Amino acid sequence: MKKDMFQGAKIISTGSSIPYAKVSNEQISSVVETSDEWIFTRTGIKERRLLTQYGQSIVELASEASIKAIEQISMDPKNIDLLILATSSPNDLFGSASKIQYVIGATNALAFDLTAACSGFVVSLVTAFQFIRNGSYKNILIIGADVLSKWVDWSDRSTCILFGDAAGAVILQSCDVSFNSILNFHLKTDGKYANYLSIAYKENFDPHPVLKLYQGSFQYISMNGKEVYKFAVSQVPLSILTCLHQANLSIKDVDWLLLHQANERILMAVADKLSISSDKIISNLGQYGNTSAASIPLALHEAVQVHRIVANDIVVIAGFGAGLTWGSVVLRW
Ligand code: COA
Repeated sequence: MKKDMFQGAKIISTGSSIPYAKVSNEQISSVVETSDEWIFTRTGIKERRLLTQYGQSIVELASEASIKAIEQISMDPKNIDLLILATSSPNDLFGSASKIQYVIGATNALAFDLTAACSGFVVSLVTAFQFIRNGSYKNILIIGADVLSKWVDWSDRSTCILFGDAAGAVILQSCDVSFNSILNFHLKTDGKYANYLSIAYKENFDPHPVLKLYQGSFQYISMNGKEVYKFAVSQVPLSILTCLHQANLSIKDVDWLLLHQANERILMAVADKLSISSDKIISNLGQYGNTSAASIPLALHEAVQVHRIVANDIVVIAGFGAGLTWGSVVLRW
């Protein structure tokens, strides 16, 4: 990150939304051959929320999270200049952001989807920051939302135990550069390993009889769990260290480690590698599972609500997942 900033940015509000239906590990055990003990010891997950209402999609969840963030600071939604929806599970391949823009009444906002899987919120936060830093926009709504339950193969016990549905939102506002709270970021992608975690598009065998082109459909989530685990535990600590170092900060300065909520063992292993004490880890995945792009803003909202994260705390957030993509942001709250 270059230091010649024009505008600073600050998160001034947060919100979240979770579906009503709570599904325990015991309930999952009636769907596939697994157990509460297996799931909990390997992942730390006890239950997850699933969007089960007919006709509901990411739009309802994301809109609710956004409205909570907007109402918390009594903001007129017309003052939002940009809405970024981080998701890999839109209800329309052309994007769901514009539908959310309409529902929440952010009529002056440009709205678009950003897909970077479980790193989506981190990439969106950094993207929003660029628009604020260069003075283009003042108020940006960033939503991380996913309903991966619609893309899970509910007969595949190696993946279906992991995921839950949720949405989280933050409002990033421009401020004087001396109050800037985004101290640094570090983002990476390695497409060589894209097949470790994907929702792939598969073409049909037979081409169109006249045009000879191939059409197809998207498949369920497929994952090489062991490789994804190794990737996260090796790359995320390096990213965080780089990010802190470039901001002239050290591990000792970190008050909170807010990682993408994929697996409790990953959270512990990353903290261990960084010599960060486990009581600085923010974790809620026992209740929600891996909610992909929603996991960081959801956990952030909860931690702020209960005053765990307070003014001036140094919060390191890091996302990682399909792509493979990963990255970290250092915030002064
Ligand atoms: N219940 C019971 N047994 C299961 C199971 C389940 N839900 N899923 C897999 N198993 C079995 C396997 O069939 C295998 O049996 P075998 O030894 O007889 O072949 C055994 O458990 C071990 O499977 P393995 O895949 O090696 O387990 P693991 O220790 O790697 O744990 C994950 C699996 C998915 C929990 C782990 O790899 C992981 O968390 N990876 C990261 C995934 C992730 O976070 N993805 C999202 C990133 S954004």
